Amino acid sequence: MRPGNLKTRIFLDGGDPGETREMLDLFGFVDGQTTNPSLISKNPEARARMERGEKFSESELLEFYEGVVRELAEMIPQGSVSIEVYADENTTAEHMIEQGREMFRWIPNAHIKLPTTAEGLKAAEMAIKDGIRINMTLCFSQEQAAAVYDATAGARKGDVFVSPFVGRLDDRGEDGMSLIDNILKMYRDGDGHAEVLTASVRSYDHLIYALKLESDIITAPFNAIKEWGNKGFPLPGHDYSYPSGNLKLLPYEHIDLKKRWTEFNIAHVLTDTGLAKFAADWNNLIQ
Ligand code: E4P
Repeated sequence: MRPGNLKTRIFLDGGDPGETREMLDLFGFVDGQTTNPSLISKNPEARARMERGEKFSESELLEFYEGVVRELAEMIPQGSVSIEVYADENTTAEHMIEQGREMFRWIPNAHIKLPTTAEGLKAAEMAIKDGIRINMTLCFSQEQAAAVYDATAGARKGDVFVSPFVGRLDDRGEDGMSLIDNILKMYRDGDGHAEVLTASVRSYDHLIYALKLESDIITAPFNAIKEWGNKGFPLPGHDYSYPSGNLKLLPYEHIDLKKRWTEFNIAHVLTDTGLAKFAADWNNLIQ
């Protein structure tokens, strides 16, 4: 059962509806789900197909993604399901929003994932005007989060998520959880229209610390949620201290949220490599 006093929404990070079913059966709740091209490529049906040497055509792959997302949306009708557009370094904002409009029609509870790049932010501005809910992915810096805040100004609370990727920062020796702390702190000066979705969660401690920081949402792989659930969903006490080990703390930057998003430095190497990897995993499924 979902702990009664849990304020943070808990999303499942995955592309396999079988896991969503299992989580519902085991624990009785899933507040939402996030997918991405790499997770879709790991879907058991997609894997089996690839092992048989049967790649998808582009339209078959989109149909497959739609089928997965529909299955997820039926299981968690009250939640949100994030669907990611295809984007590589050459994808324009217009092409992203075109895909986003189409994907948004797949299910009633979609959030469309757009990369936190200049083109992604332009697409975000258009999405908000169109009433399309979005999840800004591949966020690795406070300035990127500030840019998301401005590009989505005027959106309704619940319509905009920003996904800082904790695990990938940890992988290069930086304390990803300190970015969550910093963005949450920075957003406290704002109007609350953009919600922080802690992503790229790899461990139980990421999850527990994100709860302590009061992240609006956490998306975590089934293993991390299972570990937490098997312990009875304990919530962090005042004495909880995050074991950041040797990870380098990212210092808090004093950023004026009233600045235009175009004035922020939104470049980040992990955004670029992440974008390329998502595109490669998607393209690898196609004939
Ligand atoms: C979810 O929205 C993200 O795409 C996901 O958490 C990324 O996780 P990873 O860094 O483990 O690939």
